Amino acid sequence: MSGPTGPREIIEALRRFQAGLEEPYKMTPAGMWACSDPEEVLDLFEQVDLGRFRHFCDLGSGDGRAVLLASIFTRASGVEADHGLVEVARGLAKGLGLSQACFIQGDCRQADLAPYDLLFLYPDKPLDWLTRLLPEGWPGHLLIYGPYFQPGTLTHVRTIYAGKTLCGLWRKK
Ligand SMILES: C[S@@+](CC[C@H](N)C(=O)[O-])C[C@H]1O[C@@H](n2cnc3c(N)ncnc32)[C@H](O)[C@@H]1O
Repeated sequence: MSGPTGPREIIEALRRFQAGLEEPYKMTPAGMWACSDPEEVLDLFEQVDLGRFRHFCDLGSGDGRAVLLASIFTRASGVEADHGLVEVARGLAKGLGLSQACFIQGDCRQADLAPYDLLFLYPDKPLDWLTRLLPEGWPGHLLIYGPYFQPGTLTHVRTIYAGKTLCGLWRKK
């Protein structure tokens, strides 16, 4: 009998998907898609003890990789503008039996962020919009993958290296 889906199966499914692409990179209706490294993302989630958060959301979730991995720790959602990428993410979640992973097609700059207590971003643009969108008194944290765009007006909690990638944990106040 097979047990619950583990991180290795998710990473293998992502590798198979990625191997079928000419390149894992494209323009989308809202920005630029490039993939985070799933081994690093898993390492990052272990370092922040992801299971202590109630509801994770990836703002700009691409092919869903971070959401799929997060869903083995907690409830996990992703918002992505690109229809094709949302379909890929839903297909991967279905194939892997990850019913805790949910994907919304839309503009994350219009999203209600109140339900989430951990926001993940691998940003493709500056984050001023995000600092404006966070609800007053929002008690959650943001996890930023990569060193390029930082939510400078928020409070830096911790720098974390996921493999060789510099990431940051932030909160609103
Ligand atoms: C650098 S990729 C990161 C993908 C994914 N989070 C990962 O870790 O592999 C950024 C993604 O954000 C999406 N994106 C950018 N702006 C967006 C917006 N306003 N609403 C929804 N998705 C957006 C892009 O389409 C792209 O897929």
